[in-house]
Amino acid sequence: MLKNKRALLISVAVYVVISCVMALLFEHLMKTKETHGVGTDHEKAIRDCIVKPSGEKLDDIGGLQDVKDDLYRNVIIPLRNPSVFFKGPKALRPPKGILLHGPPGTGKTMLAKALASESGVNFMALSSATLESKWWGESAKLVQAAFQLARTELQPCIIFFDEIDGMGRARSDQDQACVYSFKVELLRNLDGIDGTDGQSPVMVLACTNCANSLDPALRRRLPHVINVGKPDSKSRLDILKKLTRDEMGSGIETIQHGKTTKKINTNESVAEMTDGYTGSDLTALYSVASSFRLAEANITTLLENLNPEAPDGHDLMKMVGPLKLRHWKVAFQHNESTRSISLGMGI
Ligand SMILES: Nc1ncnc2c1ncn2[C@@H]1O[C@H](COP(=O)(O)OP(=O)(O)O)[C@@H](O)[C@H]1O
Ligand SMILES: [Mg+2]
Repeated sequence: MLKNKRALLISVAVYVVISCVMALLFEHLMKTKETHGVGTDHEKAIRDCIVKPSGEKLDDIGGLQDVKDDLYRNVIIPLRNPSVFFKGPKALRPPKGILLHGPPGTGKTMLAKALASESGVNFMALSSATLESKWWGESAKLVQAAFQLARTELQPCIIFFDEIDGMGRARSDQDQACVYSFKVELLRNLDGIDGTDGQSPVMVLACTNCANSLDPALRRRLPHVINVGKPDSKSRLDILKKLTRDEMGSGIETIQHGKTTKKINTNESVAEMTDGYTGSDLTALYSVASSFRLAEANITTLLENLNPEAPDGHDLMKMVGPLKLRHWKVAFQHNESTRSISLGMGI
C-alpha cells in the first residue's frame, strides 16, 4: 500500500517536472520564432527611431520660400487635420510620398527636422545606419515593422528616410540577398500606405543628393518631387539675416572709400560675394568670420573685464563688438584658399 503511494507520488513529481521543462522549451521556441519574423526587438528598434522634435521651425530656414510653402500645404496642414484630408474626398488627399532632392548643404535635413517639430505628429527617422549596421540582414523586417507601427499605432505619422540614395539605389545582381529583400520590402510597404484608399495618415518623406541613382520603382512611389536648390543672392541674404539675428549692432556700417565714406549693408555685401554658396557653406563662413573677430579682439584682457561673479558670454560679445564686412572678407579669402587646396589647386 505504502509502496503504491510512493510510486504515485514519484510519478506525479516526474509529470510536474516534465511539464515545466516542456513549458520552458515551448516559451524558448516561441521567442526564437519571434526573432525570425517581425518581433518585439524590431519594434523596439523602430520606436528608438521616433524623433523628439528639436524645436527647429520652418521660419529658421533661410530662402526656400516655395519649398516651405509646398511642405506646409502638402504635409503640415493635412497631417494636422487628418480627418479632413485623409478620410474625406479623394481630391483632398496629399501625396503619400515626397522626395526632396538637391545638392548637399542646401537644407533638406533641416526642412525635415522643421516638419517634425511643426507638424506635431510622430516622426520616424530611418537612416541607413539604423537599417544596415546593427541590423545587418534584418533591415527588411525593420522596414516592415516601421510601416506596420505607423499604420496601426503611430498615425498620423511621417516616415523619414534621410539620404535614401544610400539605401535605395537601383537594384542590381550584385546586391546581397538582404539588401535586395530590403529594397523589395520598402517598395511593397510604400505601395501599402496607399492601400485602403489612402486613408491612413502616414506620409513618407525622403531626401537625396542624387535622385538619378535611385531605383526607378522607388522614384515612382515618391511622386511629389521638390527641388531644393542652391540659394540665389536674395535667398543668401535671407539665410545671413537668420544666421546673424542674435548679433548686436551688425547691419549697416560705414566704410572708407578713398576720401569719401560710404554706408553699406554688411549682409547684403556678403550675399553678393558668396555666389554658389549653400546654407551650410554660409553657416561655416559665419563661424570662421566670428573666430576672426575674436582673434582681432584681445580676448585675454576682455575676459578679465567680465563680472567675476557671473561671467557671461553676452557681455563678452558686447565688448567684442559687431561682425564687420572685413571679418567676412578674411573668412571668405580663407575659405576660398582652403577650397582650392581641397580641390587639388594648392601650390
Ligand atoms: N536654407 C538654410 N537656412 C539656414 N541654414 C541652412 C540652410 N541650409 C543649410 N543650412 C545650415 O546647414 C546645415 C546643414 O544643412 P542640411 O539640412 O544638413 O543640408 P542637406 O541635408 O541638404 O545636405 C544646417 O544644419 C544649417 O545649419
Ligand atoms: Mg541631409
